[in-house]
Amino acid sequence: MTSVSQIQNPSSNATISDAKEVVLTGDRPTGALHLGHLAGSLRNRVELQYEHSQTILVADLQALTDNAGRPRHVSAHVLEVVADYLAVGIDPRRSTIALQSGLPALAELAMLYLNLVTVARLERNPTVKAEIELRGFARDIPAGFLCYPVSQAADITGFRATLVPVGDDQLPMIEQSNEIVRRINNIAGRRLLPEAKPLLSTVPRLPGADGRKASKSLRNVISLSAEADEIRSFVRAMYTDPTHIRATDPGTIEGNVVFAYLDAFDPRIDEVGELKAHYRRGGLGDTTLKRRLVDVLEALIAPIRARRAQFAGDKAYLQQVLDAGTACAHDLTSSVLDDVRDVFALTMRRPR
Ligand code: TRP
Repeated sequence: MTSVSQIQNPSSNATISDAKEVVLTGDRPTGALHLGHLAGSLRNRVELQYEHSQTILVADLQALTDNAGRPRHVSAHVLEVVADYLAVGIDPRRSTIALQSGLPALAELAMLYLNLVTVARLERNPTVKAEIELRGFARDIPAGFLCYPVSQAADITGFRATLVPVGDDQLPMIEQSNEIVRRINNIAGRRLLPEAKPLLSTVPRLPGADGRKASKSLRNVISLSAEADEIRSFVRAMYTDPTHIRATDPGTIEGNVVFAYLDAFDPRIDEVGELKAHYRRGGLGDTTLKRRLVDVLEALIAPIRARRAQFAGDKAYLQQVLDAGTACAHDLTSSVLDDVRDVFALTMRRPR
């Protein structure tokens, strides 16, 4: 049996086995990444790159599935997301950063996989269902959007990924990908593709400042490169406990956004524990608490902000990182496509 090691993050310690895994993750380039991404996935990725073979996909084709009307909004954010990766410590010598639209094998894999999935199954995917509601698509849903779990299965299998670090909303995608893998392996009569395991962050999903779901369109998140005054107004606007009016009143921790962020980012976990007890008892004011969070976030963000400014000023370098990663991913994804074409008896080779 493989022993289990802990991946140590400041406060996230997801557990995976010691075996070397093939890690694949991705982000839609529709905006700058925010603190929720840092707590939920970026910190995990920074740790994973030292022990495992990791690819990070800038999923521009997936972003187009609900942004086809504003393609420049997607393309303009590609290098922004790459700058965010580098700023938080993803090292292009240890992680491959690749552009989805630069990998035609993934599109062809998705096309083949579509034959293995029913419309009913796609409509049952809980994440897609929730997103359809959120965007008010109803029956006017773009077919590409309904099918993006299949494209994501192509992403995952195109790298023969065994481990996919994601937020819990992405679990249905991995499940659907594994169903496709089982179908392919069944048709092939052998274990051609591996199934992937999800890797969830142990930090609970961070809420937005208002306590609702963190989302850029709700303007309740803060970017990884926020300025000091943005950090202050973000924290000032945070929802705490509406019944905690005077500092002397006893307060509630549950649903209190300030504590959610302290739990995720304050390195002094014992002190946060004491603050919680104090807050519950009464005698600890929101202003004092928020001042501490401002300091914690400033200490966290300041170095990221500085590195990000450096990278953002060197677009040529960012492009070079992405091109090199995409070229490297091209060979791997093409070889997987060749195998899957064989399964479907597509033996005629196209000119390359
Ligand atoms: N769907 C993911 C998200 O919205 C992004 C993504 C695209 C992805 N391809 C992927 C995640 C492959 C993991 C693996 O966050």
